[in-house]
Parts: sequence; structure tokens; C-alpha cells
Amino acid sequence: MSRIRVAVIGAGSISDFHLQSYQHNKRAELYAVCDMNGERAKQKADRFGAVRTYTDYRELLADPNLDAVSVCTWNNTHADISIAALRAGKHVLVEKPLCRTVEEALRVQAAVRETGKTFQIGYVRRYDDNAQLVREFVDRGEFGQIYYAKASYLRRFGNPGGWFADKDKSGGGPLIDLGVHVIDLMWYLMGRPKAENIKGHTYRRLGDRMNLKQHLSLYQAADAGSGPNNVEDMANAVIRFDNGASLMVDVSFSLHAAKDENIVKAYGDKGGFELDPVLSMTKELHDTILNITPQTDTPGLDVPRAFQNEIDHFVDCCLTGKRPISPVEDGVEMMKILCGIYESAESGREVTF
Ligand SMILES: NC(=O)c1ccc[n+]([C@@H]2O[C@H](COP(=O)([O-])OP(=O)(O)OC[C@H]3O[C@@H](n4cnc5c(N)ncnc54)[C@H](O)[C@@H]3O)[C@@H](O)[C@H]2O)c1
Repeated sequence: MSRIRVAVIGAGSISDFHLQSYQHNKRAELYAVCDMNGERAKQKADRFGAVRTYTDYRELLADPNLDAVSVCTWNNTHADISIAALRAGKHVLVEKPLCRTVEEALRVQAAVRETGKTFQIGYVRRYDDNAQLVREFVDRGEFGQIYYAKASYLRRFGNPGGWFADKDKSGGGPLIDLGVHVIDLMWYLMGRPKAENIKGHTYRRLGDRMNLKQHLSLYQAADAGSGPNNVEDMANAVIRFDNGASLMVDVSFSLHAAKDENIVKAYGDKGGFELDPVLSMTKELHDTILNITPQTDTPGLDVPRAFQNEIDHFVDCCLTGKRPISPVEDGVEMMKILCGIYESAESGREVTF
């Protein structure tokens, strides 16, 4: 097979990146769009040139013309749709987070192992060119052993509303939505050590601050404006790994901060690096400190390019049988970490694995 036929399930905000990236991939044919909101599915199918639309993912999955799907629906549906797709013989790219709980993650992992189909998690930050460049330096030992890392994803006004704000559908707030990006990225670059213990805190003090909409714009879910807001405003945690390394993280949807803040930094015994806000490396040489600026096309994160890389990788894995760089096993580990932070925050105690 030289091409695969793909469908995107969930035609909301993030689906555009999947649809346009498939459109640009010569080894993929964009075949169908599925959304329980039929009008939305049709609109995206027309815009991106898909020939079929569905409102029920089960009907889509029964279509023998289809080889692979992107799952871009609410978090509470990721596990069931992924498992149904795998059992229908389709390859699956699922948006982050893998799901809401460790139990759901293990069910997906069992289905991947049972079916042998390609399964990739959309940890898009791993697919950024700069992240891959740093990964190469890490693999070549340029930073030595990374023993401390720091990640922040702070939005001062950034609760997307709709299902994101409804814990039953999302599994949580900024931790599971934004934290997953940077915790996963750091954990991947640190060499995927096992989490040993976690101390976490969550706060609900400000709410969604929709009063600010009068003056400020924000990323919103397709169905924003409906449903409850019962997720945390912000979370922080220290995660300690079995190699002694620690990762400090803080994330927010709502915070009295002067500006949004993205930080991804790591420190090893031979050097350090920063990916956010801009790519840089630090080394010691001949009794001084060198701050190094690697030359790349983009000094910071290039989101459309990262999505294109992610989709290209998925299509390649489907066609060649290669193992994706963000496999289901990493999703299981990430769900243990995220749920461990929530558990620690709730109990007020450190969680030990
Ligand atoms: N990688 C990233 O940077 C990134 C950014 C934003 C969102 N996401 C993830 O993408 C997913 C979707 O987020 P979004 O912002 O597009 O949300 P959204 O609300 O804008 O869109 C979700 C769509 O899924 C549809 N849907 C929900 N359940 C369905 C079902 N059972 N069958 C068919 N359609 C269904 C909804 O009708 C809606 O159109 C989430 O898991 C989110 O975490 C990832």
C-alpha cells in the first residue's frame, strides 16, 4: 500500500491542524470527517475536500474504505473511540491527553496490543523541530544526566469553556489540558524515567473570568458557553523520578499574572537547555559559561509545522509498520503522573508509586 485513507473524528477547533496536515501529505487521502454535529462535519469536509461525512463514529468505522483515524473529540470519548477504531482494524492517532484515567489508558493499551495496529498519541510538542534537535543533543550526552527540569504553561485568561471546563468530560483543567504538553515533553527529553513520587496542589479561586472577554480574546471550545466550570484554575507539582531527577511544573487557565508564561528548561551535569520561550543551550568551556543559540528556522515553537511533522510521522508509521515516537505506553505513564498529581492535591499527601 502506498497511500492510506484517513478520517478525522471530531471537527472542532483542533481538527483544522489535522485536516490541513493530511491535505498536505501526499501519502494520505483525506476521506471523511465525522462529528456528532453534522453541520460542523459537513463544513469541514467541504473546506478540506473530504468526500464523506458521518455523525456516528461507529458507522464511520464500519466503512471498509477507511484505513486510519485522527481522534479529535472530547477527552471522555478518547478511550472508547480509540478502542472501537482499533478493533475495526483502523490505525489511530489520538489527541492529547490519551484519556482521563489510568484505567482507561490500560484498556487502550490492551486494545493496541491485541490488534497490533499503529497507535500514536498526539503529543505535538515532541514533534516540534526544536524539540527533536534538543533530543539529538540529549542522546549524544551533551547535557550529561538531566537532574532538574522546570516547566510552566501559565495562561492568565485561558479557560476554553464548554467541555474543557466540565470535569466529567475533560478529566480536569489546565493540568490535564496544558500540563500534559510540557510534562510529557520534559519527561521525553529526560529519557522517560519512572515517576517515583509526586507532591501536587490544585486551586480553584478565580473561575473562568469570562468578564475579561470584553477586552481580551481567548482559545475557546467549539461549544463554549454551555455547561459547568468545575475544573481547577491552576495546579503545581514536584515530580521525583527513580534516577533522582526532579521536575517542577505549574500550569493555569486563570491566574493574576502579568502575562502568559511558557517555560521549558532543563539542567544536567554537563549542560542545560531551554526550549521555551526560545531555544538556547548552556555549556561550560575553558573556565567560562557559554550561552549557545542553535540556528534553526524558528527560534521558538512552530505549531503548524509541529502538527505537520506529527501527521507525517503517523502516516509513515501506518504505511511502514514503524513504532511511533509517542506510543500508547507513554500515554499510560503520563496518565499515572497526571492522576498522581490530582490524587496528591486531593489527599494533601505525597503520592508514591
Ligand atoms: N494538540 C494540541 O495542541 C491541542 C489543542 C487543543 C485541543 N487539543 C485536544 O483535541 C481534542 C479536541 O479539542 P478541541 O479544542 O478541538 O475541542 P472542540 O470542542 O472545539 O471540538 C471537539 C469536537 O468533537 C465533537 N465530538 C465530541 N464527542 C464526539 C463523539 N462522540 N462523536 C463525534 N464527535 C464528537 C464535538 O461535537 C466537537 O465538534 C481534545 O482532546 C483536546 O485536548 C489538542
